[in-house]
Amino acid sequence: TTVEYEAESWDMGGHDTYMHKEISEQAEAVDRVLRGRIDDRFSTVHLGGLNLDAREARGVRRIKILGCGTSYHAGQIGAQLIEELARIPADAEPASEFRYRNPVVDPDTLYIAVSQSGETYDVLAAVQELKRKGARVLGVVNVVGSAIAREADGGLYVHAGPEVCVVSTKCFTNTVVAFGLLALHLGRTRDLSVADGRRIIAGLRRLPEQIADILSREDEIEKLAEEFTGARSMLFIGRVRGYPVAREASLKLKEVSYIHAEAYPASELKHGPLALIEPAMPTVAIVPDDDLLEKNRAALEEIKAREGKILAVAHREQEKADHTIVVPKNEDELDPILMGIPLQLLAYHTALKLGRDIDKPRNLAKSVTVE
Ligand code: AGP
Repeated sequence: TTVEYEAESWDMGGHDTYMHKEISEQAEAVDRVLRGRIDDRFSTVHLGGLNLDAREARGVRRIKILGCGTSYHAGQIGAQLIEELARIPADAEPASEFRYRNPVVDPDTLYIAVSQSGETYDVLAAVQELKRKGARVLGVVNVVGSAIAREADGGLYVHAGPEVCVVSTKCFTNTVVAFGLLALHLGRTRDLSVADGRRIIAGLRRLPEQIADILSREDEIEKLAEEFTGARSMLFIGRVRGYPVAREASLKLKEVSYIHAEAYPASELKHGPLALIEPAMPTVAIVPDDDLLEKNRAALEEIKAREGKILAVAHREQEKADHTIVVPKNEDELDPILMGIPLQLLAYHTALKLGRDIDKPRNLAKSVTVE
């Protein structure tokens, strides 16, 4: 699919910042990444640019996803989606680390480079090194015709549209949805059943409306942001599917508000970070209604017992939390796509109240084309 962007994409469209504009565009952006790709007949998706036929797809023994910053976090969710839906062992690593550690390049591993700009030097260098060693590399890229897209053997565009704000929001969401499509495609060439394929497709189709629902509650989130402007440091926790969501939300807050934030797996709290909990250290907890709900609730209790303030992002009110942002439930596997969206708004409104330079945070560049 080719998608043409109108000149007005660069227009602020009545928003005060590109970040706000881009957060607000996510329902349409997700609709675009899905468009023309779903195949209801076989409960799968068509990804024409992958250049990977069914036999080759079945021959993949392992998947390694490489990216930086937000793209790396999207890749972490992508790796989980691939493992869950296609049962192929998958993991994500910062491209910037991978390229400096003389990695073992295995012929049965499929490498996937993730990048909004398609120009991030660390990712490009990793791709070039992999290609030199004969590996097959796919790109999950936003900017059409960018260096990484050209260098890769194939891939899929995430069709988020132009992202101007240095802080990535809509591209993160679309990249995760793109991984959902890839995981579904790989799953359906392997052991994912027709019924599960259908279930995931229905879930993907529900996303734009659910995103619109979350965005319509911006006023509630704006009010909440008031409570965090005084924080010096914040903790973000999540478990398994929720952990990369916590990591990305913590990066958003750091980048745009300059409040220190740290993400931890909720399961690791008792191995150290619990020592930090006190009334002045708020925690944001990702609490999906999945098989780990009770475990996550136990973590909230631990925090509450130490008088920590809690903001939960969950599918229903959390009794131990001081405030819960309730988000719509999707299929368990797809929940991470939605759970970070209110936290983009939280980072935005916190930064706005602190008078930060939202679209151009200090010391950062939109695409890092140097080492
Ligand atoms: C995102 O908010 C950041 N500004 C940054 O981490 C970014 O995701 C990273 O530099 C990678 O950029 P890319 O996706 O264009 O490769």
